[in-house]
Amino acid sequence: MSELAFWGNDVFPVEMHKVRVIQKLNLVSVEKRLEAIRAAGNNSFLLKNEDVFLDMLTDSGVNAMSDKQVAAMMIADDSYAGSASFERFEAINRKLFKKEYVLPVHQGRAAENILARALVRQGHIVPMNYHFTTTRAHIQANGGTVRELFLPEAVQPQSDIAFKGNMDTKALATLLQKEQGRIPFVRVEAGTNLIGGQPWSLANLQEVASLCRKHSIPLVLDASLLADNLYFIKTREASCQSMELIEITEKIAECCDIMYYSARKLGCARGGAILTSNKALFKAMQPLIPLFEGFLTYGGMSVREIEAASVGLEETMDFDMVRHGPEFIAFMANELSDCGVPVVLPAGGLGCHLNAREFVSHVPQTEFPAAALSAALYLASGVRGMERGTMSEERNMDGSEHLANMELLRLALPRRVFTLSQVKFTVNRILWLYENRDLIGGMEWEEEPEVLRFFFGRLRPKGDWQQRLVDKFVLDFGDRR
Ligand code: F0G
Repeated sequence: MSELAFWGNDVFPVEMHKVRVIQKLNLVSVEKRLEAIRAAGNNSFLLKNEDVFLDMLTDSGVNAMSDKQVAAMMIADDSYAGSASFERFEAINRKLFKKEYVLPVHQGRAAENILARALVRQGHIVPMNYHFTTTRAHIQANGGTVRELFLPEAVQPQSDIAFKGNMDTKALATLLQKEQGRIPFVRVEAGTNLIGGQPWSLANLQEVASLCRKHSIPLVLDASLLADNLYFIKTREASCQSMELIEITEKIAECCDIMYYSARKLGCARGGAILTSNKALFKAMQPLIPLFEGFLTYGGMSVREIEAASVGLEETMDFDMVRHGPEFIAFMANELSDCGVPVVLPAGGLGCHLNAREFVSHVPQTEFPAAALSAALYLASGVRGMERGTMSEERNMDGSEHLANMELLRLALPRRVFTLSQVKFTVNRILWLYENRDLIGGMEWEEEPEVLRFFFGRLRPKGDWQQRLVDKFVLDFGDRR
């Protein structure tokens, strides 16, 4: 794939698609934004979409579909059992990932539920490059614990390491030796979500796979963010630069005994799948699909989504279709960083991540700096991001707060949804907020759920800083939105 030509030094990402359906957006006044964020308990998950201007909460289930995906939905074969739509889904999964058995699930965490129930027992340890919230919750719910084996650079917001998602293979070798019999599988996550959508290299995955084989332990890949990881392997790993994405995918698949994914991300649809060629593993998981998901030919997915996912998976192998996300994210992160705003670098996939710990360095970690920044950015712009810090953690066994390795505000760029001017608007408001960061204060719990508390927990600001931030906005911008 050759690069686009630019005249002069002004190089920027260009959408390799055109917009054919639009949705009108609404930017409410700053006073209304204050009302809305209060009503939402300062948790961006609890905002109403009608009060949100640019929704950068997630890329899950909100990626823009292609014309071909929408067209495929029209010819879905509606049947409970034996649907031709599922056969097409199975065939494309087999073709891309070279796995014989395809189990459909209604979303990514459903795959994690099945995997954990089938394979994790009391006292088990699951090594991984980094945890994801729902993955860890399912492993723990089945009596296991997670052991993260990441490189020190993984949790440094800024470094020049191209593959921060790499697993520490030395630590893995030691653990596999020491904990024989207690490790049901090793998990690697593509486009490592919680450290800023950071990729691993093919070389690292191959090393992990060879250690797993040596110890006869299955290697499980969470491929939900595989599209971004493929982009980074192709653009950053010297030995892969001349390979097509489909060839890189084949090499990745060769390493893995099980692959699973959320089709809300991979494939730009909704649903998911678990793939394996290992009959014993397949047999351990298969009976759980009808129990928790639905029959084996739909697994809780609508047949229309199955068709859309099939086309979306195939399109993931097209470099021009997947480059939009990582290139827009890099543009956004670099624009902010050039102006001194602390962001995760190198830019990863999924979204641009603001480093809240530094952005609001005066807010202690026990007062949820990333959640405070999330509420503040909504006030400043109507942009909805997601807290990825201490609020997204679970408390320690003794009830104390578990402080997160990083305090990030994630601004997801769902694939092909936002234009460059919308990204520039967001950058512009973040720069205003950075200028006024001293006004941002801390948060405390108003209502704290026991598990996955970030989803619906409620916070309140400490003091009246939000009103003062709104007053400053009005002072600077008058009655403009
Ligand atoms: N694995 C990874 C790496 C994910 O990013 C997600 C979801 C899941 C599993 C679970 O998939 O949502 O379909 O059940 N991430 C979403 C996000 C929620 O916003 O980052 P799911």
